[in-house]
Amino acid sequence: MQRSFQDLLSQRHSVRAFTKDPVAKSDLEKICQAARKAPSGANLQPGKFHVLTGPALEGLICALHDAMERNEPPVSEYSYFPIPMPADLKARQRAAGYALYQALGIAKRDVAGRREQFARNYAFFDAPRGRDRHHRPAHGQRLLHGSGMSLMTFLLAAEDQGLGATGIGALANYGNIVHSHLNLPEDELVVCGIAVGKKDETAPVNLFRTERDALDVFTSFHGFDD
Ligand SMILES: Cc1cc2nc3c(=O)[nH]c(=O)nc-3n(C[C@H](O)[C@H](O)[C@H](O)COP(=O)(O)O)c2cc1C
Repeated sequence: MQRSFQDLLSQRHSVRAFTKDPVAKSDLEKICQAARKAPSGANLQPGKFHVLTGPALEGLICALHDAMERNEPPVSEYSYFPIPMPADLKARQRAAGYALYQALGIAKRDVAGRREQFARNYAFFDAPRGRDRHHRPAHGQRLLHGSGMSLMTFLLAAEDQGLGATGIGALANYGNIVHSHLNLPEDELVVCGIAVGKKDETAPVNLFRTERDALDVFTSFHGFDD
């Protein structure tokens, strides 16, 4: 059944546990067709997606796993978070983290449990498909909102296909590994990953929902009569 845009928006959420069911390439093509329609300033279309599955994805996951095992220091190609992080954003980051760990029953002080969950980012949460979102760094970070437009379109299109997905900004921490695994040109910047697959509807990690600021905090209206 066709869902309305409002339904898609309200039903989409980050999915971090998947069934083993494969995702048809045709579904991924439909999602990418939607994402490529996203607007960008001056139609520069600054980003590009790489879709991985099977041995291509497993190879990347192995390389990331080895890097973590060796305690290899992350090599970020850009800073996803502001440095230093302003206090109000830090509070939101903490709230998002606590909601996630609470859903998983990981206590605040359980450092090992939190680390283990964080490491799941680098296994693409066992999704049958992983995607890397790349961007041309020659333009610095100025055009990242262009990538953001296609990312959101991708996430909504996945929801529309009855699939689940989550962004994985943590992948940018090991941009160097993604670069060498995919043999990317020097002038591409690894923005983030996306895990995509069929939602495991019963997994506790998929059952919690995040909150948003109220409309009057998020938006200021100017020049209206009422
Ligand atoms: C660009 C981007 C990067 C993200 N990176 C991660 C990540 O590395 N790990 C993770 O568990 N979730 C990640 N997320 C998911 C966010 O935590 C999530 O979107 C946010 O908490 C709001 O929740 P919702 O998507 O369920 O509405 C990312 C989301 C986006 C859009």
